[in-house]
Amino acid sequence: MTKDFLKYQAQTSPYPLGMEISHASGSYIYDTAGNAHLDFVAGVSACTLGHSNPNVVEAVQKQAAKYMHVMVYGEYAQSPATDYVKLLAAQLPQPLEVTYLVNSGTEAIEGALKLARRYTGRSQIISARNAYHGNTMGSLSLMDFEERKSVFRPLLPDVYHITFNNEKELNKITTRTACVILETIQGGAGFIEPQNRYLEKVRKRCDETGALLILDEIQPGFGRTGKLFAFEHYNCVPDILVIGKGMASGMPVGAFVSSPKIMGTLSKRPKMGHITTFGGHPVVASASLATLNELLQTTLIKDTLSKEQVLRKHLVHPRIKEIRGRGLMLALIMDTADTANSVVLKAKEKNLILFWLLFEDKAVRITPPLTISIEEIKEGCTIVLGILDRL
Ligand SMILES: Cc1ncc(COP(=O)(O)O)c(C=O)c1O
Repeated sequence: MTKDFLKYQAQTSPYPLGMEISHASGSYIYDTAGNAHLDFVAGVSACTLGHSNPNVVEAVQKQAAKYMHVMVYGEYAQSPATDYVKLLAAQLPQPLEVTYLVNSGTEAIEGALKLARRYTGRSQIISARNAYHGNTMGSLSLMDFEERKSVFRPLLPDVYHITFNNEKELNKITTRTACVILETIQGGAGFIEPQNRYLEKVRKRCDETGALLILDEIQPGFGRTGKLFAFEHYNCVPDILVIGKGMASGMPVGAFVSSPKIMGTLSKRPKMGHITTFGGHPVVASASLATLNELLQTTLIKDTLSKEQVLRKHLVHPRIKEIRGRGLMLALIMDTADTANSVVLKAKEKNLILFWLLFEDKAVRITPPLTISIEEIKEGCTIVLGILDRL
C-alpha cells in the first residue's frame, strides 16, 4: 500500500509519516501490521469524540441509508443541517445566530472574508503574524510566511499584519479595514493565548472603526479548551465565528456563523455571494449533530481541564521548558527543535502518535481526542518521558 500511496497519491512533503492504516477505535489507530497506536493528535484536533465513536457512526450510517446529497447548498430544507444550525445557535451568544455550512476550514475562512468585504464595502484585511487559517488562496494570503507564499503570488491584495498580543499595533485597524481575523488561540505559532485582555481591546478597536472581528476557532472550538468555544474564556464575541475540524468528529466540515444582518448580505446583490455544492451535506451534518449532542450531554468539555492537569503533572522533564495552551490543546516546548523532532519520530516507534506545529519548531503537539482516558494519558506521558531520558 505504501508504494501505491507514494506513487499515485499527491504528496505534501518528501517525508510523510506513512503509517499504513487498518482501522481506528477510541484513542487508538491500528496499522496493517496489527500494532495499536495511542493517538495524542486526533487527526490534528479533528477527532473530538475519538475514533469510530458509536453515536457518530450510527448517525452517519442512518443518514447515509436515508439520503445523501440531494441538492446544492441553500435550496432544500434538510433536517440534519437545520437541526444542527438551530442547536448551534442556541449555544452561541447574540448576535451569532445564522450558520453557513461548508466543506472545510479554509473554505469557511474564504466565506468569512468575502462576507466581511461584502458587508462593510471595504477591502482591507488585517491578520496576525504567525497565524494559520488554511491553504486556499485567500487563507494563504493571511499568512505572513514569505517562504510559504512567494511562489504562489500574486495573492489577495490589501492584507496587512499585526503582532498577536501587541496592543500598540491596534491603531493599524482603521475605517479602511473590512475585518480583523485572528485565531482565538494561535495554533501553528505555538498555542499562544491572548494576554492582558487583548481580544477585548481588539473588539473595542473594531467597534470604533466599523471593522468586523472574525475569530477562527477551527482548532480550539468544540470543547478542546474547556469551553464549547475558546472565545468564551476571553469576554469577546466576534462578528463572524469560523469553525471546522472537531465539529463533526472526523468528517470533513467547516462553517461560519454571524448575525442575520451581516449574513443576509451574502444572498443579495449579487445573489449567491457564496455557493457550494456539498456544504451542509446531510451525512456530515448528522455527524456534527451527534458530536454537539454528545458534548452537551456529557462532562467531556469540563473534563478537558482535569485531563490537562494530569498531563501537566506528569510531563515534567528538564528538556520540557514550557507547556503552552489550555485543556486538551497543549504544546510541549522543548529545549531545542532537534529534541522536538526526535520525540515525535521516536514516539512513532513506540506506538504513540505525536505531531509538530507549523511555525514553532521546538513544539510537540498534544491534542488527543476529548474522550481519552486518564490511564491512556498516563501511558502516553510515560512513553514521552522514557524517550526524553534516553535522548
Ligand atoms: C486555526 C485554523 N484555521 C484554519 C485551518 C484550515 O482548516 P482546513 O485544513 O480544514 O482547511 C486550520 C487547519 O489546521 C486551522 O488550524
